[in-house]
Amino acid sequence: MKTVKKAIIPAAGLGTRFLPATKAMPKEMLPIVDKPTIQYIVEEAIESGIEDIIIVTGKGKRAIEDHFDKNFELEDNLMQKEKYDLLEKVNATSNVEIHFIRQKEPKGLGHAVWCARKFIGNEPFAVLLGDDIVRSEKPCLRQLINEYENTLSSVIGVQTVMDEETHRYGIIDPQEQEGRRYQVNTFVEKPKQGTSPSNLAIMGRYVLNPEIFMFLDKQEKGAGGEVQLTDAIQKLNEIQRVFAYDFEGQRYDVGEKLGFVKTTLELAISRDELKDDVLTFMKDLLENSVVKN
Ligand code: UTP
Repeated sequence: MKTVKKAIIPAAGLGTRFLPATKAMPKEMLPIVDKPTIQYIVEEAIESGIEDIIIVTGKGKRAIEDHFDKNFELEDNLMQKEKYDLLEKVNATSNVEIHFIRQKEPKGLGHAVWCARKFIGNEPFAVLLGDDIVRSEKPCLRQLINEYENTLSSVIGVQTVMDEETHRYGIIDPQEQEGRRYQVNTFVEKPKQGTSPSNLAIMGRYVLNPEIFMFLDKQEKGAGGEVQLTDAIQKLNEIQRVFAYDFEGQRYDVGEKLGFVKTTLELAISRDELKDDVLTFMKDLLENSVVKN
């Protein structure tokens, strides 16, 4: 059966929404509780059956490479001290091949994906963005790969957003719907407020056929003067069917500050060892700030 074994994780953006934290540290390394955001993404890829990952990095992103590298000293130290639970955490992503390539200039998401074209070759592949963490029974990417295996068409993960948020996303103009799957008229990147064709927004998970590179090769600039992946997807949709899939699961937007804080709190509360203390702290905080105001 034709399936998807390779994934691209673009991580070369400037992360300006998190300055000054991201001046010297990649946004992808900001931790949610005790794990960098990019590790949540790598774990989702592994759980979805991906065997090879290429991370597109850029200037100032060395910490990502170090994070996924083997650290003999640390592992030896944990072994000596019999801290096997920590050793297991340190090795959580060791059963996948992780490769790196540099995007020399942040020319946009479409350009970042194009940088990995030689690694992908002529196979279908996945793209996962670190701005979205998804908690679901079946991993989000696995849901899309299942759709790919059924249709052999590219599949783009979408979820519903509020009217006032549509201008921040790639949006689909849906046609026929079959269960959670949509045929799509057009894919539009960041439509101006009030012009969005729907509220179904692209959420950082893609399974793409390699023909997408025919359009990315052209490196045409779109919204914000960047090479947009959504524009290439729209062109692909004109020559072969590209589906949208409204995936099941709770999505957390960790690419902006409020989303990042909310995700940290929610994931902390989901951990047995932190839950009670965090809830007590939040209750106190709420009572005190209510009293003060
Ligand atoms: P974002 O626009 O969310 O990331 O791109 P950013 O540019 O780092 O963030 P802000 O807006 O300045 O805060 C979505 C994903 O695409 C990657 C980013 O690293 C992020 O994971 N990206 C974006 C690239 O790899 N290269 C680019 O040229 C642009």
